[in-house]
Amino acid sequence: MSWLPAEAFRRYDETPDEEFYKVPRLVTHIDDRAIAAVTQLYRELFLSSGEILDLMSSWVSHLPEEVCYEQVVGLGMNEGELRRNPRLDRYMVQNLNRDPKLPFGDGEFDGCGICVSIDYLTEPIDVLCEVGRVLRVGAPTIVTFSNRCFPSKAVAVWHRLDGRGRMRLVKTYLSDAGNFENVRSLDRSPRRIFSDPLYAVVGESTGPPTPSL
Ligand SMILES: C[S@@+](CC[C@H](N)C(=O)[O-])C[C@H]1O[C@@H](n2cnc3c(N)ncnc32)[C@H](O)[C@@H]1O
Repeated sequence: MSWLPAEAFRRYDETPDEEFYKVPRLVTHIDDRAIAAVTQLYRELFLSSGEILDLMSSWVSHLPEEVCYEQVVGLGMNEGELRRNPRLDRYMVQNLNRDPKLPFGDGEFDGCGICVSIDYLTEPIDVLCEVGRVLRVGAPTIVTFSNRCFPSKAVAVWHRLDGRGRMRLVKTYLSDAGNFENVRSLDRSPRRIFSDPLYAVVGESTGPPTPSL
């Protein structure tokens, strides 16, 4: 991202992510109402019976219980969390900050969710460009986030922004990936004062990136 300095993507904790995510965390990272807002977005935008990629996944995927997808694939950092996730048909462990290339072919998925995790990516545009590649043309990516994080692992720019600013930042990530269209941000925060806010940025894949000359 030429308009942001490299420091914007530094973290307080620059030790390998494998260290930080070594221990399974079988907790939820946002409250039940915010999770319900994520699930509702998935219900609205993911093709039921489609093949879904849960990127930066853990032991819960927040997919609607009543929908039976053709396949759900998870990719995250902790094998113990992924193994316990009842929605996953298969999963893989991969550090996207080391290797942003996704281990899938072009156009394999009908939707991708990245829930409360985009703030940990140091090369978010490379990863999102890969997401666009592995989605079928027209398939949605749904990036959701709130106001909580592992502070030591979130990139510096995340700490400088409020909810609106983060929506603008993630919208820019998806636009700059170059293979999404109809990129829009949504405030799906529950209408209760003590709930966690829930923001989303959504875009539809236009397929593999066009090779630059
Ligand atoms: C706050 S948790 C959210 C987990 C899950 N998406 C959810 O909604 O509960 C952050 C997740 O990001 C994943 N993650 C963090 N850094 C990563 C990296 N460098 N590569 C791949 N996944 C990563 C971790 O495995 C962890 O499950």
